[in-house]
Amino acid sequence: MIFDWPPHGLIHRDSATSTNDDAFALLQQQPACLVWTTHQTAGRGSRGRAWLSPAGHGLALSIGLAPGPAPPDQFCYPIFAAVALCDVLRRLVPDGDWSVKWPNDLLLNGRKLAGILCESRWFGKNVAIVIGIGVNLKRHPGMDELPKGYAALDILAEPPAAETIVRRLYYSLPAQFEALAQPSLLMAAWQQRCGFPLGSPVTLTANGRTLDGCYEGLNHDGNLKVRDQHNRLHLIQQTCDDFVLRPR
Ligand code: BTN
Repeated sequence: MIFDWPPHGLIHRDSATSTNDDAFALLQQQPACLVWTTHQTAGRGSRGRAWLSPAGHGLALSIGLAPGPAPPDQFCYPIFAAVALCDVLRRLVPDGDWSVKWPNDLLLNGRKLAGILCESRWFGKNVAIVIGIGVNLKRHPGMDELPKGYAALDILAEPPAAETIVRRLYYSLPAQFEALAQPSLLMAAWQQRCGFPLGSPVTLTANGRTLDGCYEGLNHDGNLKVRDQHNRLHLIQQTCDDFVLRPR
């Protein structure tokens, strides 16, 4: 699937409730968009959680893609966005330890720097897709540290500016869109950027169970694969809401 990417479509807002909502509104008038802000008042996170973006402390951006027939491969979008964002940040900060974490996170030095929330809405008989990305720029006001397991760009000696990240991502997207047409290549690209090597021993918690096994990467549907000690393959879907994977 190749999208018609607007050459002058970068839209900045001083503030937004949720840039995902802004993107859906923009898609009523234009075939694609990228809207961003550093102050989001009602950001949404995955699993129905809120995503906090106090003014100047987080980058919130949303990529809106043309309403069209419902794509069979919606699971590809968070994987695609994680790879694209990882590559942009790696180029901007080559000495950072960047990796992706299934299903929708980007890690800096093993801690969550960014999260991705993909949403879809019906426009008549068509479906519009919005890929929302939240990047922690600074520790939140009044907090010495971010919550355990989280990182912000201000831990870097020379953090890239929010606008630089947005522009680099914007210009990298046309080349990246082609990856969406080839899910197996996209999954392989994602695995190359993943902190868990193929075959590594892991402890998996998912769907109310915890087991020891061996990490086998993603299948072509974007499900995570773990093989247990009895050689049974466990496929975890992106919608699993109690997923935890740890090295063993
Ligand atoms: C997560 O929980 O990890 C996903 C967070 C996604 C947050 C981004 S910020 C831009 C876009 N607008 C929203 O309301 N949410 C996403």
